[in-house]
Amino acid sequence: MENKQLTIGVLTSGGDAPGMNAAIRAVVRTALNRNIRVLGIRRGYSGLLQPDMIEMNLRSVSDTLHRGGTILYTARCPEFKQEEGMQRARQICREMGIDGLVVIGGDGSFRGARDLSLRGVPCIGIPGTIDNDIASSDYTVGFDTAVNTVMDMVDKLRDTSQSHDRCSVVEVMGRRCGDIALHAGVACGAVAILLPEMPFSVDGIVEKMRRTLRTGKKHFIIIVAEGVMKNGGLPDVHTFAAELERRTGVESRATVLGHVQRGGAPTARERVLASEMGYRAVELLEQGIGNRVVVNHNDRIVDYDILEALNMQKQFNHRLYEIADAISI
Ligand code: ADP
Ligand code: F6P
Repeated sequence: MENKQLTIGVLTSGGDAPGMNAAIRAVVRTALNRNIRVLGIRRGYSGLLQPDMIEMNLRSVSDTLHRGGTILYTARCPEFKQEEGMQRARQICREMGIDGLVVIGGDGSFRGARDLSLRGVPCIGIPGTIDNDIASSDYTVGFDTAVNTVMDMVDKLRDTSQSHDRCSVVEVMGRRCGDIALHAGVACGAVAILLPEMPFSVDGIVEKMRRTLRTGKKHFIIIVAEGVMKNGGLPDVHTFAAELERRTGVESRATVLGHVQRGGAPTARERVLASEMGYRAVELLEQGIGNRVVVNHNDRIVDYDILEALNMQKQFNHRLYEIADAISI
């Protein structure tokens, strides 16, 4: 009996991240090399429910490796969280002949992938988010580029801070995870890094600035993860900068970097990581394996059961935080 040709779908879901295209490309090319048909599903789970899908060929992913964003677009789809939406997705997969799905996104998207896997459509998750907030993966696709973007921006801010003897307060993304702030803070020599994992006091920061002023330091960088101002009883970074200026005498300005952090060409590291993950995802689906996430751990690509991965607790890098504090004096 002749074997039926496999068909897989690929989608990007949740917030976009640089390197998602590299992952899509790896999925498409790996699959086609193995005579597996690929459907590109547009706008995440919304495109699955509509359905809105395109047949991918070798050239569909040409000239995408270096591009930020996602050629498949992305969206958040509340209907998919309901049982009715889930059943509809299952039915559409059946009608379109989809034997498995690669879902590139964050924890929320993985929950959807698990639910759909349990209903008979094998799904493989690839961590795509700039926040690096997926506990099971040491690095997520998008994080390295975002940190490099922040570093480039802060280097520019440093030029003007240095010229004016100012303090530059920079707000970066990361609602529940301070990895962008931490890594960018170390890479930019920030005198203080404020992030959700660690308590902070304005008094402590003022004291550190006064101490370093006495040793001749004249300009400062402070990195703040979004949302943490509330924890210190301050409404926003602009108010925080004004407070620092009042108490230290150092003229201060705040900059909110915002969505610029989500765009741009993926770094080499990102492209390699995404390519490895995309390749592995197809290998798993080809073997009929679903309900897994493909992640990076200790410089290796490994895969875990989705629920097991979702239940992992992210370990905050206390040592890097201590190093940042110790060498920014
Ligand atoms: P991310 O994947 O970046 O964490 P979201 O949390 O916004 O982003 O989730 C993206 C999409 O994944 C949601 O719009 C929804 O369609 C789906 N999703 C999120 N949470 C669940 C859930 N608990 N069960 C099923 N699907 C979910
Ligand atoms: O991708 C993660 C993230 O960038 C968060 O750090 C940020 O709070 C959020 O997405 C903003 O996403 P959006 O504006 O698309 O809702």
